[in-house]
Amino acid sequence: MNSLIEITFTINGEKMVRKVKPSLLLINLIRDELKLKGTKPGCLEGECGACTVLVDGIAINSCMYLAVNVEGKSITTIEGLGTLEKPLNKVQEKMLEHGAVQCGFCTSGIVLSIKSFSDKCKAQGKVPTRNEVKKSLEGHLCRCTGYVKIINAAEAVYK
Ligand code: FES
Ligand code: FES
Repeated sequence: MNSLIEITFTINGEKMVRKVKPSLLLINLIRDELKLKGTKPGCLEGECGACTVLVDGIAINSCMYLAVNVEGKSITTIEGLGTLEKPLNKVQEKMLEHGAVQCGFCTSGIVLSIKSFSDKCKAQGKVPTRNEVKKSLEGHLCRCTGYVKIINAAEAVYK
């Protein structure tokens, strides 16, 4: 039997209703069905962070998350931040200013993790230490930059 489950959710501010297979992964809903290709498929094993999106503001690996679990929730993908058509988010600006983007494959996920962590810190009125910023980026692999520029960009979000 291949029954579909109806889910209602918001993605990048737009409310949607979809019927999905119980086994559908969130990354496949986002990329294949909603055609939002900024979310990247890397390892598909929860190791690289390339597929990171925000669910109710929390950074999650969409390759390890069932689409049915977004019922009633709000998803943000990289397309929900700045694009060519709308102003860049502060995290995106800092990534550019600090030269923290090379091939860009890891960038969507890293930007969204930085955003999630900085929103949490701001809500607590806290400026994290460099070590805390580094720790918040655990779970993201980048083959190109050597990480220092990414950490510098993430720290600059608080200045
Ligand atoms: S693609 Fe999801 S963690 Fe690597
Ligand atoms: S910029 Fe290429 S993997 Fe990070």
